[in-house]
Amino acid sequence: MNGPDSDAGLQTLLADIDAARSHGLAAIAAASSIEDLAHTESGLFGRKSALGQIKQGFGSLPVEMRATAGRALNEAQQELRTAHAAAADDLAAAARRTQLQREWLDLTETPPGPRRGHLHLVTQTTERLEDVFVGMGFTVSEGPQAETDWYNFEALNLPAAHPARSMWDTLYLDLGERTELGDGEGGEASNVVLRTHTSPVQIRVMEVQPPPIYTICPGRVFRRDTADASHMPVFHQLEGLVVDRGISFADLAGTLEEFTSAYFGRSISSRLRPSYFPFTEPSAEFDINCVICEGAGCQTCQRTGWIELGGCGMVHPNVLTNCGIDFEEWTGFAFGFGIDRLALMRHGIDDLRDMYTNDIRFLNQF
Ligand code: DAH
Repeated sequence: MNGPDSDAGLQTLLADIDAARSHGLAAIAAASSIEDLAHTESGLFGRKSALGQIKQGFGSLPVEMRATAGRALNEAQQELRTAHAAAADDLAAAARRTQLQREWLDLTETPPGPRRGHLHLVTQTTERLEDVFVGMGFTVSEGPQAETDWYNFEALNLPAAHPARSMWDTLYLDLGERTELGDGEGGEASNVVLRTHTSPVQIRVMEVQPPPIYTICPGRVFRRDTADASHMPVFHQLEGLVVDRGISFADLAGTLEEFTSAYFGRSISSRLRPSYFPFTEPSAEFDINCVICEGAGCQTCQRTGWIELGGCGMVHPNVLTNCGIDFEEWTGFAFGFGIDRLALMRHGIDDLRDMYTNDIRFLNQF
């Protein structure tokens, strides 16, 4: 059915396809952002797009026109897709460049006058805490981060298979061929852990230092924990230990109260609640007034006015005996709390992970 009519019809159709193509290319070129470009998609490729509508009309075309028109339509569509993909790449690259420029930090910049960095918030907090306790007459002790089972558990009155071991999600170290730790530390390789708390430092201090002992042990500890807003697999604790003649629970309560007001200010005080730890008897948890609402009750403290800070108690006679200290002559107290959590509370930070992302804009605030 070739004839002047169908020829003219085909020419019109091809002109329509070409117009839709140019129109589409212009729309793509006009998009100035990824979002703009996304808005063009249904107008370019959808059923209601210019090309989509032309295609829907194909059913009524004479067969011999269909092949030519179909090819022209496919080519136009292909060209639009290629142009669209290229524009998407260009716009994404431009957006990334703008973002980088906005967040750009010149770490080599030398501004006029000296510009000094500063210690990490956790280090600052540790140093402040050390100052407070040193001011109260304590010394500062340290111990290794990889500990034997003896120091981390057994000497602390937690023999193998003690059910309370599950209070700590422990990471065991694989020492490969080695069967013992160096430096005469003893301990079997299969029994070497990343310390789950700073309490083993108590044992190390009592082993080498005769009482009276007034010491704190700050340091890094490790747990098999998934990072979330209030947990990290690596964090920091501060342990306190006092062993002397006639030390009582009242000394523990007084020391914690004194520390609380020295660190948080006079408006914040502490309280003790009965609890259980294998290395202390009796044991307690210590809370402080919520630093956000100062005890009035808010979301952070779940309307109780109190937030839990750590554990404490009177050193268990078994622990003293394990360190060769006569529990008839000497008594003591111990406490331990998380340093990171303390920094979090003092500065009103709501996600612990922010402290370790090392985004300098966050760290610069402290
Ligand atoms: N080691 C405990 C923990 O990590 C905290 C603790 C509780 C330390 C009571 C103590 C103590 O010294 O007496 O959960």
